[in-house]
Amino acid sequence: MTTVRDLQEMAGEDPITMLTAYDALTATLADEAGIDVLLVGDSMGNAVLGYDDTLPVTVDEVASRTGAVARGADDALVVADMPFLSFGTDRPESVENCGRMLKEEGANAVKIESGPHTVELTEHLTDLGIPVMAHVGLTPQSVNQTGYTQQGADREEAEAIVELARDHEAAGAFACVLEHIPSNLAAHITEELDIPTIGIGAGESCDGQVLVVTDAVGLGDGTPPFAEAFGNVREEMSAAMESYVDAVEDGSFPADEHSHVSEELDDLY
Ligand code: KIV
Repeated sequence: MTTVRDLQEMAGEDPITMLTAYDALTATLADEAGIDVLLVGDSMGNAVLGYDDTLPVTVDEVASRTGAVARGADDALVVADMPFLSFGTDRPESVENCGRMLKEEGANAVKIESGPHTVELTEHLTDLGIPVMAHVGLTPQSVNQTGYTQQGADREEAEAIVELARDHEAAGAFACVLEHIPSNLAAHITEELDIPTIGIGAGESCDGQVLVVTDAVGLGDGTPPFAEAFGNVREEMSAAMESYVDAVEDGSFPADEHSHVSEELDDLY
């Protein structure tokens, strides 16, 4: 099984691969493909749960899907993404919510969208044995303050992001996601930190890359400009579903080979 320490040893040597997963089947496929980290992202809100953004995602939703991903994965490190307001408000409640992901659902770590208010919490969780992945730059739970635009494009914002990443490393975070920031800023942070950086929309200099799985396999409704669809699962699924509908409607499914006749019932029916 991949550990936090394995990831730290990979930094700068071997690119770290991370994908989101929200169910056991996807987790198994990603694991078999050799993914290092499976993130049970709160991106499940827009990717698969039908919400407009990540804010409505609940602790129960992340917990149930973390359990499924942990059951489906053999080797990858499983990271539960803590949803909006499940951390950072009340300390005991934050610990309980994060601890539940490890204690009850089989996660190996949690990810927390980071701000100045999460530095002490990161230290506390780490001290308790809950590994924390930090997340700076664009943090979608702050959509009402920042929108989904690139962060850190001017000097003041860039310096604040560097400081936040440094403070979370000092607090014990084992890795840091850099989302939608200029690639030269991401390269600087990667140089500055000892812990691995994992980028999304942050250029090629990070120690690893993460994508939302529905974007990566081409299942989602469109792909963000900084992502790439490495397949076209949406087209394949639609075609298979249309074929199924046609086959039922025209009577070609089920055929004889899909049906079983009981000889014992021959006299009766
Ligand atoms: O929720 C998520 O999928 C994420 C990644 C985009 C880093 O936070």
